[in-house]
Amino acid sequence: MKRLLKGGRVVDPSNGIDGVRDVLIDGDRIAAVGRDLPVNGATVVEIPAGFVVCPGFIDMHVHLREPGQEHKETVATGTAAAVAGGFTAVACMPNTSPVNDNANVTAYILARAAEANLARVYPIGAVSRGSKGELLADIAELKDAGCVAITDDGHPVATALLLRRALEYAGMFGMPVIDHCEDPSLKGDAVAHEGYQAAALGLPGMPGACEALGVERGTLLAELTGSHFHVAHMSARASLRTVRKGKEAGVRVTCEVAPHHFTLTDEALASPIPYDTNTKMNPPLREAADRDAMLSGIADGSIDAIATDHAPHHYDEKNVEFDRAPFGIVGLETAVPLALDRLVHAGLIRLPRLVELLSVNPARILRVPGGTLVPGAPADVTILAPDLTVRVEAAALRSRSKNTPFDGWELRGGVAATIVGGRTLFVNAVVEGLKEL
Ligand code: DOR
Ligand code: ZN
Repeated sequence: MKRLLKGGRVVDPSNGIDGVRDVLIDGDRIAAVGRDLPVNGATVVEIPAGFVVCPGFIDMHVHLREPGQEHKETVATGTAAAVAGGFTAVACMPNTSPVNDNANVTAYILARAAEANLARVYPIGAVSRGSKGELLADIAELKDAGCVAITDDGHPVATALLLRRALEYAGMFGMPVIDHCEDPSLKGDAVAHEGYQAAALGLPGMPGACEALGVERGTLLAELTGSHFHVAHMSARASLRTVRKGKEAGVRVTCEVAPHHFTLTDEALASPIPYDTNTKMNPPLREAADRDAMLSGIADGSIDAIATDHAPHHYDEKNVEFDRAPFGIVGLETAVPLALDRLVHAGLIRLPRLVELLSVNPARILRVPGGTLVPGAPADVTILAPDLTVRVEAAALRSRSKNTPFDGWELRGGVAATIVGGRTLFVNAVVEGLKEL
């Protein structure tokens, strides 16, 4: 079956394309991209004026919670949220129960993903057995089973020696080591960013240096081993400084930032709802200088990817005192509107850079297919409605959990449709003109 997406603005930085083009999809593959392509029996879909056709977005940091915490999320509900949020693929973190530290758990996740048959799922394995920070997991086994990276996310890799060994082994299999960068001694029992807001609210805080120490450690060990070190959910300006220096020195270090860290500051802990546990995540919302540093790193190219750290938690778990609530917020269905509103419409970046952050670079970092509309590539396509007014409604999220600080926010820019392997898996009910898709 052939479909011709006609007349949209195609933004495909991997091929240097930013302009009006047609995209021909043949079965599960991209067949051609060009001006005024012949119809040749294809079903024609006229892309509405102003809409943008991009290679499918890839969220490289998602907690799908299955196996073991299906009351928060499942592979099926999480991948439904992904396609509704414009993501054609997600990489899922190993802090499930049991931890994804062996081929059986990886196979289970992949079986659930095949059954759901929505967004593609790339499992990320654990660095250490049970993510306990003692014994290295069997990294060759994880690679064979289909894992694309390793991490002990939720916690930092326990010691510098373990991280060194992880980098050495993962390097042999061409996988990055992703670290939740944090110095545990400096974190202590902190639940917020150390600063004015934490002091005013009486909450124990952790400084940006807590994260930056982990970034420094990883960058030094990436240099030592020659392997690829990736910084998860970067939030502190000192971390960005270290990443920039590492890159300048030719070290294989990359980093991602989450939408909440380029949008919010720790002022959200005090207002509009004081002690709102939907403002509690790790790393925490930081002060304005850190948020602004993330924006500058996005603008100047030193940040590689936007990843959500989608961390679903049940209402009953979040509906407790701030210091007792679990860390994390959902992000799959708010990331694209936040990025369009805060980055593109704010004039900080243009669309090709956004596609780099959400598609090209995540594919490159994880070495997975996608990130391109080159003929022969999988037909994974995200269509944006950049001027659509989106009102975030927590209760209406596809995710099984609703823990978002963005409930009620109005944002400019949204997802019009999501196509995975040539199958249209999401069409935004409020956009007109995509019925043929
Ligand atoms: O906020 C967070 N939530 N940070 C993490 O590192 C883990 C995650 C989770 O699993 O809930
Ligand atoms: Zn983390």
